[in-house]
Amino acid sequence: MSKTLLAIDQGTTSSRAILFSNKGEILALRQKELTLHYPQRGWVEQDPEDIWEDTLWACRSVLEETGEENIAAIGITNQRETTIIWDRKTGKPIYNAIVWQDRRTADRCARLKEQGHEKVITEKTGLLIDPYFSATKIAWILDHVTGARARAEQGALAFGSIDCFLLWRLTAGQVHATDASNAARTMLFNIQSQEWDKELLALLDIPAALLPEVKDNAANFGQTTLLQQPLMIGGMAGDQQAALIGQACFKEGMIKSTYGTGCFALMNIGTHFKRSQNRLLTTVGYRLNGQVTYVLEGSIFIAGAALQWLRDGLGLFTDATESEALALSVADNNGVYFVPAFTGLGAPYWQPAARGLITGLGRESTAAHLTRAALEAQGYQTRDLMDAMCRDSGVDPSFIRIDGGLVANEFVCQFLADMLDKPIEIPQVTESTAWGAAALAGLQAGVFNGLSDIAGHWSAARRYAPQMDATQRAALYKGWKNAIQKVL
Ligand code: G3P
Repeated sequence: MSKTLLAIDQGTTSSRAILFSNKGEILALRQKELTLHYPQRGWVEQDPEDIWEDTLWACRSVLEETGEENIAAIGITNQRETTIIWDRKTGKPIYNAIVWQDRRTADRCARLKEQGHEKVITEKTGLLIDPYFSATKIAWILDHVTGARARAEQGALAFGSIDCFLLWRLTAGQVHATDASNAARTMLFNIQSQEWDKELLALLDIPAALLPEVKDNAANFGQTTLLQQPLMIGGMAGDQQAALIGQACFKEGMIKSTYGTGCFALMNIGTHFKRSQNRLLTTVGYRLNGQVTYVLEGSIFIAGAALQWLRDGLGLFTDATESEALALSVADNNGVYFVPAFTGLGAPYWQPAARGLITGLGRESTAAHLTRAALEAQGYQTRDLMDAMCRDSGVDPSFIRIDGGLVANEFVCQFLADMLDKPIEIPQVTESTAWGAAALAGLQAGVFNGLSDIAGHWSAARRYAPQMDATQRAALYKGWKNAIQKVL
């Protein structure tokens, strides 16, 4: 009987467990929405106990529902950068999870930049200085929770991103480890030497005793006995890197772009570290058998979250799926542009202080124009990234693979093809992120023999060819550039 794989996909807005066949078919899926807390303007937190309980519930429910006993291994994938510090003895977090979107450390980041530290940080970590990454969030917790710094120095506390925290809990506190793709998002990990960087730890005043061991993406991460059967955790990757694997972007120049809460485009650049010259990130795509494959990453903080805001904040519709018909009910955006910079701007602008903006409103503007502008923004933001990626890599990709919740929206897919002037491919396995984590676990468990084996399971469900003429494309994009100038 062929083996199955269990993926844990702990994202910004939900915690899910998915059971896959060894061909990527979804056999069962359970998920729970996760509450975000906004204690102050620009702050975003989550309760780590919710994250843990929901994840455990999702896994147990999938196993209960299917009665599956033939699982080869578990793969974990997660919202990246989100920071938790917990007590090693009790396993209890000492503060809420500070979510990747949180901007509370913007001043600290500005100071680091003013002091001229960006060059060395980029050289070592591939990142730019921004509150997005874990380092300044860790420092904030150590500075604001009474006694935390002293306890961290004594080795009584542990830091982890969500992957690491879940692993700790799944192994009942036996294993404190992460993987190279998640470590790369802390701004403390040297992605060239693949080590925690002493100079950066000193600069941020973060004790090394807090940090987890860093493993390959496919590795024996330990065993859990908390589910219906003992299972090995065999794969782990940040969600965007997991999607890269799920989308089988294993050749240099291949790009995947995922439209979830945010949008993250990753281009495989091979095994040599290369710094971006265009305000993109260089990060770890995956590390297997000690060999790192690097990617260029364009990170956009708000994608699907813009629709959520139109739904929940403005009440323009009750279900995000209505947005497609609404956008198509008008012939064009009628000059309306929506810059969804709710939590600052990521690549290639990196402006933590920027906030959202809607421009070009007239008396005739309707909910349909606003919705269309929000959907079009996905195309414009991706175009910003693609232009930077092509300049950095010198590669003009012949197609782009996309995934994530928003790709169910055909208007978005066609507009992406039009704005990028590139064919767009959507995979048969719609859950690319979770499938990537499962595939890594499958590599470790011997279900797959190598990356080409995983690539053999990729096939396209839909393709979109560009249809827009060049003049219209240029005019629309110019309108976006004008709008974005206003928030910078
Ligand atoms: O870097 C943040 C990213 O990992 C979050 O992904 O899918 O929750 O938008 P998502």
